[in-house]
Amino acid sequence: MLETLPIASWTGPYAPEVKARAVEALENGGVLFFPNLPFQLSEKEKSFLDAGVSDGKAKNISRDPDGTLQSTSLTGKRAQALGAMMGRFADSTSSLIGDLLPYREIERARTSYRPVQVKGRSQSKISDDRLLHIDAFPSRPMRGRRILRFFANVAPSSPRHWHVGQPFEDFAKSFLPRIGPDLPGKSWLYEKLGVTRGRRSRYDELMLSLHDTAKLDDNFQKNSPHQKVDFPPGCCWLVFTDMVLHAALGGEFALEQTFHLDIDQMAEPARAPIKVLERLSGKALA
Ligand SMILES: [Fe+2]
Repeated sequence: MLETLPIASWTGPYAPEVKARAVEALENGGVLFFPNLPFQLSEKEKSFLDAGVSDGKAKNISRDPDGTLQSTSLTGKRAQALGAMMGRFADSTSSLIGDLLPYREIERARTSYRPVQVKGRSQSKISDDRLLHIDAFPSRPMRGRRILRFFANVAPSSPRHWHVGQPFEDFAKSFLPRIGPDLPGKSWLYEKLGVTRGRRSRYDELMLSLHDTAKLDDNFQKNSPHQKVDFPPGCCWLVFTDMVLHAALGGEFALEQTFHLDIDQMAEPARAPIKVLERLSGKALA
């Protein structure tokens, strides 16, 4: 499940054997683990290791690709410096992915900084990422495109605790029969009302239902097979979060970069969640 890669540089070239292992593990629902790849903060940037840089409302500080920063309490030069750190992370992860993986067309989406301790946060079950889930976002229809996320633990001393669950296909097989049909006209209405950016496909509705049903199922949360993983300070990991069941149970100070890609970029598109769900349901979903 954890594929450890000995990479110690944010830029390639990387050995062909390492590249082959990376894409195979990633598309197969593994987590690429980079134990020797710290994302270094400058002395100045270390002052951002403080939960107070968050505005206290959102879980994460986010930076759009155009540089717009949201949900930070910082202003002026300090906000600019935080944005620059996040931008550097975005550049570093883009360069690594470009050199490591065969995805020629990949969209760089948001960067997030997670400065608040995960443990002890109170929130609704649906938005509680301490529960096992696959990523699916209500306002961002993917219509089958993939969500690839690069994480770095930049905490000085605390590991980031994750649980990683069963394979996607096993999960989908047990949950699909519990999901009802879509309400006719719902995705059209949501688009018109501006609830979603673009129209949700049947795939998006299914993924959201899988996300919610799994989080609300106490028995599944307690008893479904999962592995505990501790990501130590100074490491990184990369994972298709739309396919790998994951939960973040503890830790503070993580950076995350999201990428989106069409399934025709994959070495094996048949492994994409949309293809798995279409096969299991016998329906076209996008
Ligand atoms: Fe997630």
